[in-house]
Amino acid sequence: MKKIVMANDHGAVDLALKMKAHLEEKGFEVNHLGTIDTASVDYPDMAQKAVEEFRKGDYEFGVLLCGTGIGISISANKMKGVRCALPQNCYAATMAKQHNNANFIAFGGRIEYGEDPISILDAFISSEFEGGRHQRRIDKIMALEGK
Ligand code: RB5
Repeated sequence: MKKIVMANDHGAVDLALKMKAHLEEKGFEVNHLGTIDTASVDYPDMAQKAVEEFRKGDYEFGVLLCGTGIGISISANKMKGVRCALPQNCYAATMAKQHNNANFIAFGGRIEYGEDPISILDAFISSEFEGGRHQRRIDKIMALEGK
């Protein structure tokens, strides 16, 4: 079964649980490491947990959520090997896979999206990395790590 790791802070509990149920309906196994209540937790801790789990291997990608998606995506992108996208719509989610080969996707539980965030997630899942010139650019992104 295809596996996904997910984590969230208190700012995105409802959206995280909705996405988890949706992914399970699609046949994914979801390892949910996020909080399930409204008690405050720190999003960098959630990002770290998810990325460390992802590194164990066997995961297709990771889903990260906080109030805006900003803090948790910034946190994840500080960790080696992570390319976390924060798409605003389905087009950006498609490009995040086709061009950036993102291995994490982030969402904001307090954001009013113009398109259903579930559709944004689905757009990411159904897209494929195009390789070619995009691989060269990704190699350059990864070479920026630690600079
Ligand atoms: C937590 O209140 C909030 O700051 C967090 O969920 C996120 O929006 C940060 O980027």
